[in-house]
Amino acid sequence: MKKDPSLVVANWKMNPITLKEAERLTRSLHQGIDNFKKKDFSSSIELIVCPPSVYLSQIPQNKYFELGVQNTHWETRGPFTGEISCKMAEDLGCKYTIIGHSERRKYFGETDETINLKLKETLKTQLRPVVCVGESKEEREKNQTTKVIKSQLEKIFEKISVLSLPKIVIAYEPVWAISSMNNNSKSVADDPNDVMGIAILIKKVLADLYRSDVIDKVRIIYGGSVNDKNVQGFLEMGVIGGFLIGGASLSAFEFLPILRKIYQVKAESKI
Ligand code: PGA
Repeated sequence: MKKDPSLVVANWKMNPITLKEAERLTRSLHQGIDNFKKKDFSSSIELIVCPPSVYLSQIPQNKYFELGVQNTHWETRGPFTGEISCKMAEDLGCKYTIIGHSERRKYFGETDETINLKLKETLKTQLRPVVCVGESKEEREKNQTTKVIKSQLEKIFEKISVLSLPKIVIAYEPVWAISSMNNNSKSVADDPNDVMGIAILIKKVLADLYRSDVIDKVRIIYGGSVNDKNVQGFLEMGVIGGFLIGGASLSAFEFLPILRKIYQVKAESKI
């Protein structure tokens, strides 16, 4: 049976600092993927590039990837200096929006409640939300991971219709595994077995909130220090439908081997 392609979301964050570099990076990606057996690239990988919003209209649509936005507001328009709305991102051709990233929570005061509002707004548009959840280092050390993820999901999914579930992607990103959160010390990805446990937990929480027959429609992806060495381990778990990749997506030299690995696993072994 043909499986869904893996969803790979490249989160460039506030990088690179010139449009020229952004264009160079997309060109290198394009050329690099051209060297794969590209015929079935898009049936193996659904690649979404999320550049800083100011570059969105400058990065040409491409046969290998589509665009996503790193953050959107919960209103459609209005006096919200510095923000952009889902409708605006949609109008520029974006297909996805990342909401509730841990950097947004940490530096911009986002909460499960505002993420819930953002999710509701996203679902009024064609954009697909990538909703981030994950525990901090302290929470993990205090064995609070289950409690934290459950509470995040219950608040974020408050009054979200069951009919919207197939559109929603949940990114499990343990905060301590995200490279930017480690004060430049070497970050380490979570263990694939632990991630599988969390994916099962996410499904269980959703099954309690909704009906168990619909939860398989929600795609769960993993983010946090993904690289070409560890990516296969996550894929082999079977429940991880893709990846949210930060640091490594900023260098074609690091990103292409990750894509190649996913592509090989998908195209050859049909996971
Ligand atoms: P990382 O970031 O891949 O650099 O750890 C992931 C993320 O922040 O989404």
